[in-house]
Amino acid sequence: MYVCVCNAVTERHIGQAVSEGASTLRELRNRLGVAGECGRCATCARDCLRSALAEQIPTAEPALAGFVPSFSFAAEAV
Ligand code: FES
Repeated sequence: MYVCVCNAVTERHIGQAVSEGASTLRELRNRLGVAGECGRCATCARDCLRSALAEQIPTAEPALAGFVPSFSFAAEAV
């Protein structure tokens, strides 16, 4: 779906920009031109940005795999 008609930017373009590190509407504007002309796409672009960022969160979890805390909550027997 086209998000920004003025610059022919689709949801896929926004998803790609997010996967390359974009995380704000300003960054999308700088990279893709989103909301840089008439500005009518700003709300939709922000929604697409939030969705794309939310989809990226699960990819961050494997970085914690294998993490072992250095403390324990286990009760000691007296
Ligand atoms: S529709 Fe995006 S700037 Fe006009």
